[in-house]
Amino acid sequence: MCGGETRPKCADDLFCGVNSVADPANAPDLAKKHTPVITAPDSVAKGECFEVTIEVGKLLAHPNERAHYIQFVDLYADETYLGRVDFSAVTTCPVAKFCVALDHVHEGLRAFASCNMHGVWEGNKALTVTG
Ligand SMILES: [Fe+2]
Repeated sequence: MCGGETRPKCADDLFCGVNSVADPANAPDLAKKHTPVITAPDSVAKGECFEVTIEVGKLLAHPNERAHYIQFVDLYADETYLGRVDFSAVTTCPVAKFCVALDHVHEGLRAFASCNMHGVWEGNKALTVTG
């Protein structure tokens, strides 16, 4: 699944549903600040651990203040939940590393980042599992 696909959502309400854009690098600043960027291999071996990094603010820095910060990131393989990292305002940066081992994947990795002021944002990365 790629960003920008449409699910039922109020276009003018950031807290309705999940916000996503097809091309975060060429999107408005709001999307650049909030879209979680996934760094992972393009292809992995079945059952072998690999590292996944999720970073919010990689495209454009997001504030990290008590009144405005990234609360957590979630990682999924397609629709399958893999894990969550919670953050504290000011003292932790919104960067998370996961070690993941998959036996299969249909399309790829999905990350969700929650900003206390701007709702939940989705980022994607295609991935194949071989063997
Ligand atoms: Fe925000």
